[in-house]
Formats: sequence, structure tokens, C-alpha cells
Amino acid sequence: MDYKKYISEKINAEGVSGEEIYSAIALPPNPEMGDYALPCFKFAKVLRKSPVLIAQSLAESYPVDEVIEKAEAVNGYVNFTINKSALAREVIEGALAAGGKYGSSEEGAGKTVCIDYSSVNIAKPFHIGHLSTTAIGGALYKIFNFLGYKAVGINHLGDYGTQFGKLICAYKHWGNKEEVEKGGIHAINDLYVRFNSEADEQMEHEAREYFRLIENGDKEANELFDWFKSLTLSYVQTIYEKLNVRFDSYAGERFYTDKMQPVIDELREKGLLKESEGAQIVDLEKYGMPPCLILRSDGASLYATRDLAAAIYRKNTYDFYKCLYVVAYQQNLHFKQVFKVLELMGKEWAKDLVHVAYGMVSLEDGAMSTRKGKVVWLEDVIARCVEKAYGIISEKNPDLENKQDVAEKVGVGAVIFGALYNNKIKDIVFSYDKVLSFEGETSVYVQYTCARANSVIEKGGVPSEFEISGLLPQEAEVVKSIAAFPQAVKDAAEKYEPSIVARYAVDLAQKFNKFYFDCKILTAEGDKKNFRLALTAAALTALKNSLTLLGIGVPDKM
Ligand code: ARG
Repeated sequence: MDYKKYISEKINAEGVSGEEIYSAIALPPNPEMGDYALPCFKFAKVLRKSPVLIAQSLAESYPVDEVIEKAEAVNGYVNFTINKSALAREVIEGALAAGGKYGSSEEGAGKTVCIDYSSVNIAKPFHIGHLSTTAIGGALYKIFNFLGYKAVGINHLGDYGTQFGKLICAYKHWGNKEEVEKGGIHAINDLYVRFNSEADEQMEHEAREYFRLIENGDKEANELFDWFKSLTLSYVQTIYEKLNVRFDSYAGERFYTDKMQPVIDELREKGLLKESEGAQIVDLEKYGMPPCLILRSDGASLYATRDLAAAIYRKNTYDFYKCLYVVAYQQNLHFKQVFKVLELMGKEWAKDLVHVAYGMVSLEDGAMSTRKGKVVWLEDVIARCVEKAYGIISEKNPDLENKQDVAEKVGVGAVIFGALYNNKIKDIVFSYDKVLSFEGETSVYVQYTCARANSVIEKGGVPSEFEISGLLPQEAEVVKSIAAFPQAVKDAAEKYEPSIVARYAVDLAQKFNKFYFDCKILTAEGDKKNFRLALTAAALTALKNSLTLLGIGVPDKM
């Protein structure tokens, strides 16, 4: 229930609109002050009264009922206390009835959201730098679907460019079939790295030739290229399965080879294309940006050219409501330019393109580069987290069944949560110890809380009915937090910020644990036992749904 709405509709202040009241109502910093507060300072001018007097008269005239049980004026604020018993019943019954759907809605029905994420580069390592885009994009995909939108996951593969000429050249000189088949992407990457450190002028020349051959449809060059591509794709697929993410389209940069010319023609027709030192550009000086390069002087297209074609293709194919690009902030300028060019082309939907930028992830031991071959592969980070999780779990609970399965959920969860927990624009330093701490603000902490709640439910069951006779503050806090889940999901979608759901989960877990340690559940007396069991089950529902939306598994026992 929307309490702000409920309250604002019952307040009558001549000269101040209902909306103004609605938007002024806020959450007080501590629950002792009430559950909602209306600051009256803003209204002093219109009402020609001091805030203190306004608050007093609003509090006096407020009609308390079974929903809002108290309205009290304190220093220019009206503090409202909601009837927690009524709220508790509504929230618990609602969460238990909805189960896995609790927090979902149909608000996005009929709207498609394209999410361009992960977007790996063929024949290059899937390294820790791809973690954030994969985790954030994967979570947004689930969140939008949960809210009734149709999410379309797009992996805009980096499968275009001169590096493939280099790769074929390196393979021709140093590679062999068996080795590449056996080593897969690692073998391909080794060849690429070797090319960059050992190739001479002659090989550089050959590489350019091979690239030209791919472009011109040469059979052998294309077969090699397709082979490298399929090896990369089947490799990344195993990682996507681990991380619980999926894509509806793998249309990468090459896919747009024949779709760029119409865009170039349109740019020319609309008088947007300009020649500059032999190259074709769109001048963006007026908008305080460097020019957007469309064709190089040798006629080759660029990354931006393919993104222009891709945006138009997506609009035509999916008629999206929003098209998100979950890409590191290093590409801020690129997307600003591409969006601007589309706007100048008169595409009114350019306003629906959103660059969901995120910060860098590094490990404690520093940065990485593909060309030097010193990179941290994501698979190694995941494997190490799972291994560490296995160790921790075995120590904590040696008799646990399915230890390996639990370790997978905990380890993978830690990797995802580690990338998601902070506001996405922040740079993060990934620390194994931190993401696997049972005490910190981590997925393990939330998973452990779920296992705890689950074990209570296993012993006591979920009662079909319960009585509520007043709430302790610890219980009320859990109730309010469960009630806040649907809004957290909505906010996460609106701000493209899955960390809101991650932080929500930690907050509810903390409140649940406080309740768990302060209040007896299974040995509670009278009506309390059933109520607390129902409350535990409802909290578990909200916790599980949060983790699931982030792509994190929830073990029953830990
Ligand atoms: N492959 C690119 C990279 O690794 C990311 C592509 C992002 N998507 C896009 N439509 N440009 O940097």
C-alpha cells in the first residue's frame, strides 16, 4: 500500500495541493519519530503561518484510523505512525501468496527494453573487465522482465577489425589445428599475444592482407575466422551459464557489414557528412564534442558507424521503449557522439538510448592488458572464489551435503555481488576476502540468512493463519523492510542500478538477523509463534527474490 498517498489524501491544507503534500512526505531518520513525516517549512509562505503552527493544526485535524494510528506535531513536522499490525498482515499475506512473484508487476507490459551487455570480443580473453557489464546487464535483464517489460539481451560481439587479420597470420605461421582445438580461446589468445610481441613488418603486411581477405569473402580466411568465433562463443557460453545470464541475440559488429551503407547514404542526404583530411565525419563542434568519424580515409568503417547501424536496426526490429548500453565509462564520449548523430538524423527515439556506464574493476594486484598477455581471466576469478567458498563452507559445516553445489552458488554469487553492490559508476577493487566474508555486506551474508530462515521454516512450517497482537520494534522493522521490496525493484529499473536491490537484500538480512537473535521464533508463546513463522517465511521470500533478480542462487542449507 502507498502510505504516502493514503496520508496525503486525508490532509486538507487550503492553498497546498495534494501532490505537493505527497512529494513532501518523507521517511524520518529513525523509527522512533514515526514512520512517515511531513515537514511543514515549505508551506509557511502560502499559509502565512509558522511551520510549528501548521504542523500542529494538521496533526490535530488528521483523522486517525486503523491504517494510521497516530499523527503528532514535533518542531514543524507532522509525524505519522502506521498501524503495524494492519501493515504486517497485508505485507506478510501478500508476500506469501505471491511467492517467487512477490515484487513483480505488469507496469512494463507491452514495452520492450533492449539491453546491450557483456558484448565480448572474439578471440580475446573474457577478463575481469567484462564482469561488471555482464553482472549489471544480466541483473537489469531480470529486473525488467520481472516488471513486465520484454527484455531483449544483445551481445554486440566485437567480431570486426584488423586484429582478425593478425590472428590468422599468427595461426598460419605458428599455430596448428590440434593445439587450437585443445586449447580453445586460450590458444587463440596466445597466438594473438605472440603476434603483438614478435610480428615484423612482413607479418604486419600479411595481417592486413588477411583482413582484406575476410572482408572480401575469401573462403579460407572466413572459415578460419568462423572457427575462431565459434571457439570463443562456446567458451563464453560456459561462463554465461555459470553467471546465470542469457542473450536473445548475438548480432555483433560484423552483422552490420551490409547495414552501414544505407546509414552513410542517409547521413549524406541529410547534409551531415563532411570531408576532413580524406575521412568522412559528422562535425559535432557545436555540441562541444570532437567529430564522429564515419569512414576512414581508406574507406573503412568504424566502431561508431556500426553502432549507428545497430541502433537503427534495433529500433526497426524491436521497436524498443528503451535501448540500454551497459558499457564502461571509458566509452562515454563514443555514446554521446553516436546518440547525438542519431538525433541530428532526426530519429526522435534517440532520446530513448541510454548509456548505462559503470566503473572499472581491478584486482588488488593491478591492471591488465590483452596485448601483453597479462590479463586476469574471469573464469579464474570465478574458480578461485568457488574454491575458497568450498574451504570456508567445509570448515563451518563439515557435515553439509552437496558442498560442491553450495560452494558454486556461494562463489559465483560472491563474484556477481562484488561487482553489483556498489553504485555502478564507482571504480572497484575486487578482493576475494571481502566478497566472501560472512560478516560483511555480501551475498554470502544474505545467502546464510536465507539458510537460517529456511531452517526455521523447515522445523516450524508456514502457518496458514496467524494472529497479530502488537509488534515489537524488531518485528516492525522486518515488516517495513519486506514492504519496501517492490519499490526497491522499481527504483533499480528506473535508475538502471541493480545495486539498489543488492543493498536492499543486505538491509533486510540485517533486520531479519536482529529479529532472529532478539526474538524467539520456534519457542515463542501463544499467537507469537505462528506470526513469527509467517514473518520469517515472508522475509525469506523477499530475500530469495532479491538474490534471484541479481542472478545469484540460494542454497537451502549452508
Ligand atoms: N566490444 C566492446 C568492448 O569490449 C563493447 C561493445 C559495447 N556495445 C556497443 N554497442 N558498442 O569495448
